[in-house]
Amino acid sequence: MLDEEKVFKDPVHGYIYVNDALIWDLINTKEMQRMRRIRQLGTSYVTYPGGEHSRFSHSLGVYEVIRQIVQAFARNAYEWPAEYNRLALVAGLLHDIGHAPFSHALEKVIGMRHEVWSERLILDPSTEVHQVLRQVDRNLPAAVADVINKTYPQSLVVSLVSGQLDADRLDYLMRDSIFTGVDYGKFDLARIIRVMRPLDGRIVVKRSGLHTVEAYLLARYFMYWQVYFHPVSRSAEVILKGILKRVKDLIQQGEGPSMPHFALADLFNGSLNLESYCALDDMVLFNAFNVWQNSSDAILRDLCRRFLNRHLFTYIEYPEQGIETYERLLQAVRCQGYDPSYYLVVDETGTVYYDYYLGAENGKDKDSALFLWDDDTKTLVEMSRLSKPVSAIAREKQVIRRLYYPHDVLWNT
Ligand code: NI
Repeated sequence: MLDEEKVFKDPVHGYIYVNDALIWDLINTKEMQRMRRIRQLGTSYVTYPGGEHSRFSHSLGVYEVIRQIVQAFARNAYEWPAEYNRLALVAGLLHDIGHAPFSHALEKVIGMRHEVWSERLILDPSTEVHQVLRQVDRNLPAAVADVINKTYPQSLVVSLVSGQLDADRLDYLMRDSIFTGVDYGKFDLARIIRVMRPLDGRIVVKRSGLHTVEAYLLARYFMYWQVYFHPVSRSAEVILKGILKRVKDLIQQGEGPSMPHFALADLFNGSLNLESYCALDDMVLFNAFNVWQNSSDAILRDLCRRFLNRHLFTYIEYPEQGIETYERLLQAVRCQGYDPSYYLVVDETGTVYYDYYLGAENGKDKDSALFLWDDDTKTLVEMSRLSKPVSAIAREKQVIRRLYYPHDVLWNT
């Protein structure tokens, strides 16, 4: 316990409270502080100027949501194993610790998912996070990594950090909505916490909470359309991927650009280690783009200038059967003197807003459905059976395909 409670002011939760010295020490590790230098929403700031918040504030927020949930469970004397509180709080705080800057674009170059890096950062004896955890309990690093990897045997703890209604989603939907100014992402978090309860190894919702959870699932739906799939943010990501591809191609031709930071050299020659991985942040990438905007290579120079000065590509919706459109644009792009492998890009994205299956369909992952608990009949009912709007957005994958190209391509239809 800390002698004096620590408090962070936060626009989403009002205040974030820290009483436990372990949590405080973890927050002050260099691996957690690095999260301040990585934007939560990657390229969304080009569309929403407010969307500049960091993964650090999100990580604190997930910790705070878990803190509020386990407190509510204790107040109501629900069957919740309180000895796992600390593990859940730590796992919530550290769940994104392995994120790279612009994760989705960079993961392809890195060739390893951020979850794998999270595990390495927690388990490797050289990191401060590991040392702080191990000082408390030598088994704690492995337990935290297992919760984040969803392999921890106590499924209730896992479902608080990652499930259909988890602290991660509860925080990022609210946070992204508040910082971007997109109102649709908001829902009644306090009431969601009030209607949640642990039951037989999973988190369920009281029947009376139906509409509160509907609002949460619909918020997710709207946030995907308004923020995560936004065509302008995606355009910046297309250009960012183009820069990374150009650098790789140039290196292959033996004409790689100068690397202004050792972590970039490791990134592009596939030799990232914990030290160089942790050195990667938004600043290192932006600095490189700044340097490369004066590169002797015309394509790299142009793509970096576009990214920095927000001269993005335009786009058209591009359905599966749109091959003719593609051919015509291909000619137009070439006519204008652009190399189509960087200047005519198909971007595909998509998600399932509520992807569930029931225990009987897949015995090992019983938390993939949201259940409502009816106290009168003592039964559990799967959410989409009770809610028309939820059944309308459940299961089906929404795929969005767009074709991006420079504004100045003259395209005669
Ligand atoms: Ni997260």
